Amino acid sequence: MSILVTGARGGVARHLIGLLREAGQEVRTASSSPGAAEVVCDLADPATFPAALKGVTAAFVYAEPTGAAAFANAAAEAGAEHLVLLSSAAVLDPRADDSPLAKSHLDAERALLAGPVPATLLRPGSFSSNALAWSWPVKAGRPVSLPYPDSHNDPIHEADVADVAFAVLTNPGAPGTPHTLTGPASVTFAEQIDILAAVTGTPIAVEQVSRERWKEEMADYIAGPHADALLDWWEANVDRPAPITGTVERLTGHPARDFTTWAREHADAFRPSA
Ligand SMILES: NC(=O)c1ccc[n+]([C@@H]2O[C@H](COP(=O)([O-])OP(=O)(O)OC[C@H]3O[C@@H](n4cnc5c(N)ncnc54)[C@H](OP(=O)(O)O)[C@@H]3O)[C@@H](O)[C@H]2O)c1
Repeated sequence: MSILVTGARGGVARHLIGLLREAGQEVRTASSSPGAAEVVCDLADPATFPAALKGVTAAFVYAEPTGAAAFANAAAEAGAEHLVLLSSAAVLDPRADDSPLAKSHLDAERALLAGPVPATLLRPGSFSSNALAWSWPVKAGRPVSLPYPDSHNDPIHEADVADVAFAVLTNPGAPGTPHTLTGPASVTFAEQIDILAAVTGTPIAVEQVSRERWKEEMADYIAGPHADALLDWWEANVDRPAPITGTVERLTGHPARDFTTWAREHADAFRPSA
């Protein structure tokens, strides 16, 4: 069994590659960036697929909708028997087809499910590592701008997403089943900030800002329609605890890591010297 891991520079892929190697699995690492992994696999460029897929039995795939159908066909031609897609819980939104957050994931899911190779969909909620966006103001001693401090989310550690990917790649069970993945608890952004402050021993101020102000601050990083979709999602989840699934524990045999665990591991990123 030889497993292709695409997106080798990504947080989830890096964890997954380590797990597969530790378990003695044959693994081929692929990146869209030449030289960053063993082979080039740009999921938007089908010309890169045959060489990357040669001889593999399964693949871990990031959600890149433009090349997903071609990837599934190339995987079948190479003899692969299982694809595992890193999708998103955003696809569960009833308006997913109109949401820039969800649409690319939805299109990638549909392309793989319509293809000839059985596919398993992983749908994580928001990553704990999204909190790294707050490290810059915290290190600079500035308040963190939050438009909706009391919005709930379900932060999941990227290592848990990788653990689930490892579990389904090495023990496919029922390919085709979508798995909605969350952290172990619903927490608000304000609570996440409190956890980071406690773990780093640094007081962290929060400034509640308007939607417009937040969009302005993030304009260089998040495109307008994407920012609007995020803001709408956060607004809808003010004072509304996020539903939590036990899927990480069911598939991996261990409880999902909580946000405090993630914060302890990444505390240095929030300290002024980092
Ligand atoms: N952040 C969240 O809250 C959240 C929630 C649900 C789902 N997700 C999903 O998780 C992904 C982020 O995962 P992560 O944290 O592991 O990644 P990351 O650290 O943000 O890195 C981005 C990843 O996307 C890959 N990628 C981008 N364009 C690619 C292409 N054309 N071909 C192949 N790979 C490509 C990159 O791979 P290379 O550069 O090595 O090619 C890299 O692995 C998001 O893109 C989203 O689909 C995120």
